[in-house]
Amino acid sequence: MSTSTALLDIADLSVGYGDIPVLRGISMHVESGEAVAIIGANGAGKTTLLRAISGLLRASSGQIRFAGGKISDLRADLIVNQGLVHCPEGRAILRRMSVRENLELGAYRLKEGATSADLDRIFELFPRLRERQSQLGGSLSGGEQQMLAIGRAMMAKPRMLLLDEPSLGLSPLMMKEVFRGLAQLKASGLTIILVEQNALAALKFSDRTYVLESGSIALQGASSSLISDPRVREAYLGSA
Ligand SMILES: Nc1ncnc2c1ncn2[C@@H]1O[C@H](COP(=O)(O)OP(=O)(O)OP(=O)(O)O)[C@@H](O)[C@H]1O
Ligand SMILES: [Mg+2]
Repeated sequence: MSTSTALLDIADLSVGYGDIPVLRGISMHVESGEAVAIIGANGAGKTTLLRAISGLLRASSGQIRFAGGKISDLRADLIVNQGLVHCPEGRAILRRMSVRENLELGAYRLKEGATSADLDRIFELFPRLRERQSQLGGSLSGGEQQMLAIGRAMMAKPRMLLLDEPSLGLSPLMMKEVFRGLAQLKASGLTIILVEQNALAALKFSDRTYVLESGSIALQGASSSLISDPRVREAYLGSA
């Protein structure tokens, strides 16, 4: 029995692809209402960690608990049903469906389906999506697709949102708009894990940060302290 009260609690997690180990002995926790960032270089294992949390990859050892229950042996769809929703790297927009249909799909597990109040909430978060609701998903710009991916995840009414590289490939202006929406979600009390290669954006956004290096946690702490830590500055912020 764990005495932890964390919403998400990961203990000594190892994950690999076939015989190739990728994550080794990861322990981390996320409290309810926290925004936690995971930063690290290409190939550090950030996406692998999110995929393990959401049940798309199996742990080779260790345990993941969500809201007190063990989820590390649950099917991915059952994990989503508990309110842990993954907004994947690459966004996975349905290109031949409209913006509105993409959003409605996000609610397909809910008994009440997609209500107009839910859609309105997303349109308030990202007004561009309201303007473009009849447009095909595939015709959106990269930044608009990222807003749509976040909006679709929010339509599932998550208790915890897992975000994989929301800033990837976005112009500075679009990135600002996406992070404005994320800050609004954070302010509303949503629990968030943010995976980012853009370390500065992630450190500024989050309460706490874990630094992943070659599949292990190399550093962790309050984002406000890590942002001025020389090791972080040298390796991830391009200044010593
Ligand atoms: N399907 C797979 N099969 C085998 N190895 C994989 C697979 N997916 C990822 N890997 C390997 O696992 C390691 C971690 O990859 P992962 O995608 O988790 O890194 P990442 O931190 O998300 O990187 P990036 O910043 O480039 O997205 C890499 O060495 C990668 O080559
Ligand atoms: Mg990745």
